[in-house]
Amino acid sequence: MNTESLSNEMIVGLENIVGRSFLFLDTDTRNHYGHDETEDYVFPPSVVVKPGNTDEVAAIMKFANQYGIPVVPIGGRTGLSGGALSIHGGIGLSMERFANIDIDEKNLQAVVEPAVITQVFREAVKEKGLFYPPDPSSQGSCTIGGNVAENAGGARAVKYGVTKDYVLNLEVVLPTGEVIWTGANTLKNSTGYNLTQLMVGSEGTLGVITKIVMKLLPDNSHNILMLVPFFKAGQACEAVAKIFRAGIVPSALEFMERDAIDWTLRYVDGVSLDIKDEVEAHLLIEVDGNYPDVLFADAEKITGVLEQFEIDEILFADTEDQKNALWKMRRAVGEAVKSNSIYKEEDTVVPRYELPTLLAGIKSIGKKYGFHSVCYGHAGDGNLHVNIIKGDMTDENWKTEVPKGIREIFELTVSLKGTLSGEHGIGYVQKNYMDIAFNDTQLQLMKSIKKIFDPNNVLNPGKVLPDNMA
Ligand code: LAC
Ligand code: ZN
Repeated sequence: MNTESLSNEMIVGLENIVGRSFLFLDTDTRNHYGHDETEDYVFPPSVVVKPGNTDEVAAIMKFANQYGIPVVPIGGRTGLSGGALSIHGGIGLSMERFANIDIDEKNLQAVVEPAVITQVFREAVKEKGLFYPPDPSSQGSCTIGGNVAENAGGARAVKYGVTKDYVLNLEVVLPTGEVIWTGANTLKNSTGYNLTQLMVGSEGTLGVITKIVMKLLPDNSHNILMLVPFFKAGQACEAVAKIFRAGIVPSALEFMERDAIDWTLRYVDGVSLDIKDEVEAHLLIEVDGNYPDVLFADAEKITGVLEQFEIDEILFADTEDQKNALWKMRRAVGEAVKSNSIYKEEDTVVPRYELPTLLAGIKSIGKKYGFHSVCYGHAGDGNLHVNIIKGDMTDENWKTEVPKGIREIFELTVSLKGTLSGEHGIGYVQKNYMDIAFNDTQLQLMKSIKKIFDPNNVLNPGKVLPDNMA
């Protein structure tokens, strides 16, 4: 559906719901809302609307059902699997006017609206001495609503869990326009099916999230951050499971291959590191808590594990500035890779002990199909982001060989008891690999769920489930 195919009646109907000043048909606006951070895809909606409250969202969904218009919920447009792309045109539903935060200090909870930027939320609760751990690298521009829709993770997930672990209850506009709350504002809940967690990670295909009740933690005051250079990338991966086995749960345990760090150092300002030529990879390790003595003991235990491997001198970040610089660098890896070459990004995840096997497998699959990959990610979670670099590969090979290689990488993750995506979602770009992780019975079950929620298939159609399903 393109703008021309929207009838005057449809446009007037939508204008009556959101008001003339919150409906946009111009090409610039449509293009702006037509892309996220997924490769170089642009799929503009036919019209962009910016509803101001839940009732307006409900009215839009009823209207869309009546006329059979696709609706795509749009947040911060930082997604990496194309969840917010309007692949069939239709209504681009920008949620940006939903930006309220209401912190309940008595219960350590907050009611947060979907367009709140994750970092803004984290800082708002921190001011009250509270902690919202999920910290995707895009936290400066991604939204809480998008985080819930994708079940976003980030570096702190290894100790504190991912977005789903903080969502207690959701106000949702169903695809058919009814408004529901999914659960209760309680820490425990064994009451009926878990609609809250069904909605989390459903990638904007089962409902439009309009309010989120988040659990918060008390803030903690201390951390130690170290950067560990490894002469062998495989050994960096091996060290990961050993750290946990030694009794430590770090608050971050991140892996970066040499290219990832080199490319990022060239890309970001204000960070410099002196790295020996022979270094193949780094682990960035953080421990946090309230008692410095305990953290020093933890750090000592970790270094005890690391010394079993071929490592260079460990860099301990002494100051807040140094810590911030290291995190800035880590968060910029994705952007740095993107700026360097056309690439495809896979979000593989395996049980963490399998990480060395996964990394070695990815490299040999790359050799077989003729591509170079840059790997980094949340090693503590067994979550490795694999960036397949186009570099000087021919367009032909990029089109034919790379998808075969990606399929083999996913087959490897599944054979290691892992799966396709740890935190970026399936969306548009991974949907046709879903048959690797799920058989027909499982996929049909998912399709049935979608149909119950969205009988007319108007909400974010063409995402998550493979194209060729009967
Ligand atoms: C990261 C994003 C890409 O880990 O998930 O930087
Ligand atoms: Zn990540």
